[in-house]
Order: sequence, then C-alpha cells, then structure tokens
Amino acid sequence: MKRAGLILAAGQGTRMKSAHPKVMHPVAGLPMLGHVINAMREAGVERIVVVTHAAGEAVRSFAEKMGAETAVQTPQLGTGHAASCAAPALGGFDGAVVIAYGDMPLVEAQTFAAAFTAQEATGMAIAAFRPADPATYGRMVLDADGFLSGIVEFKDASEAQRKISLCNAGILACDAKKLFRWTAALKNENAQGEYYLTDVPALAKSEGIRCTVLTMDATEATGVNSRAELAAAEAAMQVRLRADLMALGVGMIAPETVFLSYDTVIEADVTIEPNVFFAPGVTVRSGAQIRAFSHLEGCEVGPGAIVGPFARLRPGAVLDAGVHVGNFVEIKNSHLEAGAKANHLTYLGDARVGAHANIGAGTITCNYDGFNKHRTDIGANAFIGSDTSLVAPVRVFEGAITGAGSTITKDVPANALALTRSEQKIVPGWAEKYRARKMALQETKKQLQAAKKEK
Ligand code: UD1
Ligand code: MG
Repeated sequence: MKRAGLILAAGQGTRMKSAHPKVMHPVAGLPMLGHVINAMREAGVERIVVVTHAAGEAVRSFAEKMGAETAVQTPQLGTGHAASCAAPALGGFDGAVVIAYGDMPLVEAQTFAAAFTAQEATGMAIAAFRPADPATYGRMVLDADGFLSGIVEFKDASEAQRKISLCNAGILACDAKKLFRWTAALKNENAQGEYYLTDVPALAKSEGIRCTVLTMDATEATGVNSRAELAAAEAAMQVRLRADLMALGVGMIAPETVFLSYDTVIEADVTIEPNVFFAPGVTVRSGAQIRAFSHLEGCEVGPGAIVGPFARLRPGAVLDAGVHVGNFVEIKNSHLEAGAKANHLTYLGDARVGAHANIGAGTITCNYDGFNKHRTDIGANAFIGSDTSLVAPVRVFEGAITGAGSTITKDVPANALALTRSEQKIVPGWAEKYRARKMALQETKKQLQAAKKEK
C-alpha cells in the first residue's frame, strides 16, 4: 500500500515563550520538524504534508526545502482541525497515512513502519507510551481485547481516567480517504472547545474498525512543549548520537561532553577528547584526533589529521591526510593539503595551503577588505614565518619562505625569501644606561616623599 505522512505543526507553541515557531527549534542542529520528516522518509513515506500556521513562513520554506508539501491552518481550532486542513493535498490519496506531531524530535522510522504494518492488519493503529510523569498527555482507554476504546484528553478526564498511565504519543495510521471523512465529522464539545484528532479512533470504532495500540519507548515519544523539555530532548538525542558513533568504532574519552549534530559523520578509530562541539556538516576520517575544546562546523578532517586542542574549523575548511591544526587556530573556507601544519595562533580564510607547507605562529590571511573576500594561495613546502600577514589576493609559490613579522602584499616566487622587516639596530650598553637613569629617578622621588612626610 502507498504511504503518506501528515505532520501537524501549526500550533503557536506558546509554552516555548519564543518568537520562533516551536517546530523550528533545533535538536542536534536540525529543527524538530526535520527529524520527524527524516524518520517518515526512512519508513518509506512517499508524500509528506506539513500543516502550518498562516504566519509560519519559516516552517513552510524549511518543509519545502526538505521536499515536503505544505498546507495552512487558520485559525488554530485543534489537532483534528489541523489534520483536516491537509484534505486539499491528501484527500485523494489512495493509500495509508501516518499522522505525527511536529514536536516529537526523537521519533524513529521503525515506529512509523510498525504503525503502517499494524494499520494494514486492523485498519487503524496508534502509538502509546508510559511516561515517568503522564502530566497532561491524553490517556488511552483500552477495550477488553486490548484495542483502543477511546482517548481522553487530560482536561476532559475524570480523576479515575487521569490515573491511567498509558498515554497517547501522537502517532496515528489509517486510510487517507477515511481520515478526512472522520475529521470532517469531529465535534468540539470538550473542555478546550477544540476539534481533537484524538476523537478520530472512536469514530472509526463506530464503523467497526479496530485500532491497534502499539507501545513505544517513552523517550522516543517525548513531545516538546517548553524550553526545559527541549533541553531534555536534546540530551536524549545526544546520548543516542554518541552511542551510534561509539558502536561504529569512534573513541570518546568523556562522551557526555561531546556534542554532535544529526548529520555528523565520524569514521572508526577517530579519537575525540573531552569538550568538543560538532555543528552541522562535519566529516572526520579514520585515525584523526580531535583534541579537547575544539569547535567544528561544515568541514572535513582527513585521515590521521590532528585538530586542537582549542581549534576552530569553520564552514569550508578541508584538511587532507595528516594535517595538523593546533591551539587557537581558526580556519574558514580553506584547503590544507596533505601534511600541512598550522600549529599555533593563526587565521586562515579563503586560502589553499599546499602539501607539507608550514604556517608559523601568529600568521594571518588578511582576506577581507571590508567589501570583498580575496584568496591566498600557498604552495607546497612553503614556510610562512611567524607573525606573517598575508594581504590577499596574494600567492606564495612552492618552497618559498617568508621572514617572521613580514607583511606580504606581492606574490613570492618559488623558493624565494620575502622579508619586509626593517633592519635591526644595535646600541651597545644602552640598556644598562637606561636602567641606571630610571633607578636614579625613582630614588629622587622617594627622597622627596620622605621630606614631605617630615614636614
Ligand atoms: C497532543 C494530544 C495528546 C498527546 C500529546 C502527545 C490532542 C488533542 N492531544 O496534546 O493526546 O498525548 O499531543 O505529545 O491531539 N497543532 C496544530 N494545530 C492546532 C493545534 C495543534 O497544528 O490547532 C499541532 C502543534 O503544532 C503540535 C501538535 O499539533 O505540533 C500537537 O499540539 P500540542 O498543543 O503540542 O498538543 P498536546 O497538548 O501536546
Ligand atoms: Mg505537544
């Protein structure tokens, strides 16, 4: 059977106290909505429709960038009403649809896949979980055979119903055409005056369709409604990402201090020291070492390279095999070829550094003139002396050397020396005389102060 997905993301998210739509808040570097879309895709969902707020321009453009379709819900009359807003897009879909909320970033593909499988068997499936604190989640009422009898929202539940520990996770699979028939028939006679998606299973039951209840992992089912819940979801996602990488052979001395993104790629036998942050878009090849307190984003670290401690790799940094990037070195949009070294206090931006070139401490590429960025090209085996300023656009050809403290404004030919230092002057005995003069002055001051006190 064909599979479609419907993600509800039009709520205000008022409990987040944010100017940004709730589902756009990131978890491991990707908006929550993106995690739900990815998990649906992995479960073989062909078409995904995201229901958004009229003012949810950011949500729509993000969803479309991820290949999903969008629908608008105005005004926000509840989750059942939100689902009905996808009718123009999915009403004619000939197959099954799985509905999820956009605020459940930890959901995994296998749960969607299981919901589809169960739906094929009985006509409808819903995911439930037992949270440590059932809080205000909807409560699942089961019939004698273990199928869903109905869902009672917390605000509508009796004291006895509130004691039910099995809660609605918010994942529902059913026939697409029937869904929109049921959502059109929903009533809003409840404590919140809303059209609840959670009333749909009861409508299906009245037509003889049994709703299978799947129990899912409580962490995976977590819905994010506040900043504290967002932080908890982030922590849970980090635990999962670290475990996945360690299972692939990545070494971490203190995994709880390493922060990863949803798309971080790290190969086996990479060692990561404590307190390292991987923003999105990073690939680290086998045998590399990422030393303590480094920050990496949008970059590639080649096999056997050493990064840090205290290094910053910004987008477009590409380090080939065996490159060394040491403490307080920042690299942006630059390619360091095999064996190149920049070990201390350096900024390389918009540059190429040839194989085995050595970049001395304090070297800076002056790549920005306030209007445009310019390139610096350094040839293989070049030696850039400490504290060299390379005023781009400029080229230092193969094997050339720049003298420490030089400001390089013109191309340096291969194997040449470029030096812009002014010549050193020697004044014999000057330091000794200087100290004597200063000490004599100090002595006179002291005597004057003593004389003042006596008066
Ligand atoms: C909902 C469920 C509850 C379940 C819980 C799981 C209903 C009525 N309740 O409650 O049973 O235990 O999720 O996390 O469904 N949304 C819209 N339009 C609206 C209202 C909401 O698109 O008019 C979207 C929100 O953006 C959100 C999702 O639907 O992504 C769920 O809404 P939320 O307000 O978080 O519902 P809960 O109170 O958490
Ligand atoms: Mg919620």
